[in-house]
Amino acid sequence: MDLGIKGRKAIVSAASKGLGRACALSLAEAGCDLTLMARSSGPLEEAAHAIAEATGVQAKAIAGDFTVETDRAKLLAACPAPDILVNNPGVRQTPTPFADITKDEWRHWFEAHCFSSLDLIQHCAPGMAERGFGRIVNMSVSFIKFPQVNFAHSHAARLALSGAVASMTRDLIGRNVTINTVCPGLFDTDALHTNLHGHAKRGNTTYEAIVQDRLKGCPAGRFADPKECGDLVAFLCSAQAGFMTGQNIVNDGGVYQGLF
Ligand SMILES: NC(=O)c1ccc[n+]([C@@H]2O[C@H](COP(=O)([O-])OP(=O)(O)OC[C@H]3O[C@@H](n4cnc5c(N)ncnc54)[C@H](OP(=O)(O)O)[C@@H]3O)[C@@H](O)[C@H]2O)c1
Repeated sequence: MDLGIKGRKAIVSAASKGLGRACALSLAEAGCDLTLMARSSGPLEEAAHAIAEATGVQAKAIAGDFTVETDRAKLLAACPAPDILVNNPGVRQTPTPFADITKDEWRHWFEAHCFSSLDLIQHCAPGMAERGFGRIVNMSVSFIKFPQVNFAHSHAARLALSGAVASMTRDLIGRNVTINTVCPGLFDTDALHTNLHGHAKRGNTTYEAIVQDRLKGCPAGRFADPKECGDLVAFLCSAQAGFMTGQNIVNDGGVYQGLF
């Protein structure tokens, strides 16, 4: 399917590995020009090189931290008029009992999973609206639909972002700018395996036992390939997806059992 976005300029953050890298690859396959960000330049350059080998798209690689305003400014300087913005914070969530979350941690999680994305949206959306095309996708987590114990910090920040976006979308859709949120379940990335090792250690059990437990709870019976997230994001950025906005789309192999 031709997604109708050949030559569109796309920014993807946290793009050297995992879900962000998969989004970058899927957008490159659709013919987009890419500007990518992650903190470590080595793996980011390697990702850009691999994407160029696979698709012929030469991505700009900007080393920086998504949560740092001056680094986001560098990203925007490299791509001042993006048509597509994929806000993937990349920041790994660590379980913390509610009572132990400090004020600084609340601020950190809101910066990582809400304010940084809002800042980029505020910079990019007006230009998209003026030019009559914009696609923004925020990377969240399926658990915002069924919050888990010990993740109040992460859920609160991600839900605040979804709430802010829901309000903005009504202003922007008339000018062909959409904002949607992707809510992945268990995807086979480094972050997932680090999390599962952490769960095993805290639960005094083995990594293999935790993997089996998670797979038992997933009707699809497997962890997803990151490309299954990248291709969904590329579709949400397509010309064809211009009527769909403000949605929180779960992609989790059937774990979430709610209708809406
Ligand atoms: N994998 C899953 O099952 C899953 C499910 C739901 C939601 N998520 C969410 O999706 C996001 C990506 O997860 P993933 O599984 O793709 O992780 P991953 O495979 O560990 O990749 C993380 C990527 O983010 C970059 N990154 C981390 N912190 C960053 C920062 N402050 N600024 C810029 N880049 C940063 C990393 O590069 P550097 O370290 O070089 O910066 C790397 O490119 C996370 O927010 C995670 O909570 C993941």
